[in-house]
Order: sequence, then C-alpha cells, then structure tokens
Amino acid sequence: MTREPIKTVIPAAGLGTRFLPATKAMPKEMLPVVDKPAIQYVVEEAVAAGSDDVLVVVGRNKNALANHFDRVTELEHTLERKGDASKLEKVMAASRLADIHFVRQGDPLGLGHAVLRARKHVGDETFAVLLGDDLIDARDVLLSRMIDVSRAESATVIALMEVEPSQIHLYGCAAVEETGEPDVVKVKYLVEKPAASDAPSNLAVIGRYVLKPEIFDVLEETGPGKGGEIQLTDALEALAADEQIAGPVLGVVFRGRRYDTGDRLDYLKSNLLLALDRDDLGAELGPWLKELAGQL
Ligand code: G1P
Repeated sequence: MTREPIKTVIPAAGLGTRFLPATKAMPKEMLPVVDKPAIQYVVEEAVAAGSDDVLVVVGRNKNALANHFDRVTELEHTLERKGDASKLEKVMAASRLADIHFVRQGDPLGLGHAVLRARKHVGDETFAVLLGDDLIDARDVLLSRMIDVSRAESATVIALMEVEPSQIHLYGCAAVEETGEPDVVKVKYLVEKPAASDAPSNLAVIGRYVLKPEIFDVLEETGPGKGGEIQLTDALEALAADEQIAGPVLGVVFRGRRYDTGDRLDYLKSNLLLALDRDDLGAELGPWLKELAGQL
C-alpha cells in the first residue's frame, strides 16, 4: 500500500554517558553496529516505512552525524579511481537515503523537550519519532503498521513489547485494554520507568512513536517528571487521559526482533546477533562462538 510520506524525528542529543569514553567526542548514535552507525539503521527503517524527511535533534557533537549523511567527494573519488564499486556504494548509501535536517536541542532537558524542538520543522502533521537505542530488525514490520493504525484510527500510536518484570523499570510502561485487533491495544495510562512492584503491566514502551501534532501543545505544558526531565511518556499519558485532545492512544504490540544498543552488554549482544545473520561474517563467526562457548 502506498502511504503519504511522513516526517521522522530522531532525538540524538543524549550524552551517551554509558559508553564513555567512546562517546566523549562522538554521539552514541554513531557507534557502529557491525559496520554501520546505529543511526543509519534507524534512518533506513524510517525510509522503508515511507518517510522521506528526517530531522535529527542533536547535541554538542553534531558534526559526526552531519558528516555521516553528507557526501565525501574525496573518498568517493579515491574509491572510484580504485574501481571499488562495493565500498563506493557503502559510502554513498547514507547520503542518498533521505532529506536529513538537524536542529540543536540546546539544554538536554529530556526526550519530551527534544521532541518539542521538532515543532517548527514538523508543523501541523502526524510524524514519527524513532529512538536510536532500539534497533528493529529490517525483516520485521513495526513502523509501517503503526502508521497504518494511526491513519485508520486517527490515533497516537506507540510501540509496546513484553519484557521481563525485572526490566520494566528501564522503560515507559502501559496499562492497556484489548481492541478487536490481535496486535493493537488501547492505552489506558502510562507510567515512566515504574518499579516492578508498581508496574501496571509488563508492556514496555519501545522507541517508536507515531505522534499527532497536538502533542506539541501538551509538551509545552509538561513539567519535569522522572529524573527531573521533560518526559515524552508524561505528555502521552496526558493524551491517554483525555481523548478530547487528540483522539485515542493505541499501542502496537511488537513481537519481532529488537536489538537494544543503549546498554553496553546488550550492545555487544546486538553486534553478535546481527553479524551472525550476515553472509560475509556469519559463517566464520558462528563456529568461532561455539568454540569459545566450549572454553568458558
Ligand atoms: C526512553 C523513554 C522510555 C522508553 C525508552 C525506550 O527512555 O523515556 O519511556 O521506554 O526510551 O527505549 P530512555 O531509554 O531514553 O531513558
């Protein structure tokens, strides 16, 4: 089905403190997952779901991100001269993906604040927000389904995934009720990073959102929440509490492959899982991992 393209916002202004010192001079979204920066997977996902315009909300280390999505004529010429078409293609792919724009966040006041920085660029349209810490396997469908549900129901749509109760304190958590559709739930309320004992479910908010422009007014009014930050979850909770504002908040429950690259251990696991699936690496990596496991 062809959809009207929507704009995508990628917040990438976090300090990346969990990955210091690697993130001292480079945004964590530029950390490679196998051989591509994490953010490139995210932009590819947005483009695959029909987005043609991406706004990256950046922090102090903007240049590496901007350079990555720009042309590098010197390198392109060198590879051309060498006749290395495959590397040339890799270098040029990122600059051809979409129209990529940047806006600075200024003060890092939280995810809600980062999304608010997109207001001018997005205007009065439904848009997608994709967080770089969550990679969704390109073979599994999520964002395009969320966009379709948003259109069909005129709804705000968030992505949810079941997690172990011991992990729910790392995520926004949704209390939900069923709808007629097996993968869609109605969000009754949301809590940002609850203790396991206070969590209304084991459904975690993962980093994909399809938002209506009304979210901006709500974010303007949203004060600091968990951790003293302006939380996107709190603005979504305000929408869920009052459908008059922008219609319902729905959740698409994702049961596919998600790689969490925001945590060091999960980042390492993501690299291995994705490399195992690669034609050029998997055949050697698999047996080596088995051998290594035998020695542990
Ligand atoms: C953010 C959101 C949280 C969500 C998570 C998904 O938290 O605030 O609700 O569950 O992303 O990755 P962060 O991981 O940025 O602290």
